Amino acid sequence: MTSVAVVNQKGGVGKTTVTLGLAEAAAALGLRVLVVDLDPQANASTGLAVWGADRTIDDVLSEARAGAALEAVTSSNWPDEGLRPDLIPGSHLLAAREPQMISDPLGAQDRLKLALSGARYDLTLIDCPPSLGLLCVNGLFAADKALIVTEPAAWAADGVDLMANTIQRVASRIGSPVLAGVVVNRLGRTRDNNYWKSELAERFSDSWLPPISLRAAIAEASGQSLPLRELGNRPGAREAILQFDELLDALGLAETHGPRAVELGEI
Ligand SMILES: Nc1ncnc2c1ncn2[C@@H]1O[C@H](COP(=O)(O)OP(=O)(O)O)[C@@H](O)[C@H]1O
Ligand SMILES: [Mg+2]
Repeated sequence: MTSVAVVNQKGGVGKTTVTLGLAEAAAALGLRVLVVDLDPQANASTGLAVWGADRTIDDVLSEARAGAALEAVTSSNWPDEGLRPDLIPGSHLLAAREPQMISDPLGAQDRLKLALSGARYDLTLIDCPPSLGLLCVNGLFAADKALIVTEPAAWAADGVDLMANTIQRVASRIGSPVLAGVVVNRLGRTRDNNYWKSELAERFSDSWLPPISLRAAIAEASGQSLPLRELGNRPGAREAILQFDELLDALGLAETHGPRAVELGEI
């Protein structure tokens, strides 16, 4: 059982895309996967084809109660049942929840952690909002590992440093999360992309993970609320699937033995 917070205070770098790509890769291995949509924009929920859920992450965070998250779990609606991660749906109401949580005299950093207690998944992926605020801190408190997603662009390294520092500050208090690594997403073939990728690779060589390329198939999959494996022979889909499989493996997350591994007699 591992939980990973997918983070960067910048929006649009690919946190949600990487969350969904890893969720699909893990589900395809037969792992039991839970996606927690902690962003008021709720893109992970949309990507998993879930709209208008009865209970959302906002209900979960409205109170500090052990196990509250389990009541909000729903199945995603990807077509292939075997590829469906579970989801705690996001909600735009979260934007108003954050200031309310700040006024909690006991501190509200660990509401998600408390709410998730008792959850039994091989892999929990927490898609964090683009900020260093209390919602993101809740994601970090609830996670064993933190994965920083970034882009091969100017100033990206400074943003990664800032995030790594926040992760370190949480870990110094409660012993987790550890930095799982830095993944560069939307890597194109331009000289500029290559330059910034090399800069990042040098600066974060200890935490370096295999990058994810910029591919139309990736944007199409999320735009159509489908996993990459449903795109058939769409050019680039296969390559994207392999990259997310490789990323899951590099994170050491493909080794968790799920029910399918048991069926196959691997353990
Ligand atoms: N590797 C990629 N190739 C092509 N498009 C991508 C890729 N990663 C992300 N995108 C697109 O970029 C946009 C922002 O990505 P998203 O995952 O929502 O970022 P974040 O969650 O960090 O805000 C989305 O429209 C997504 O489909
Ligand atoms: Mg997002």
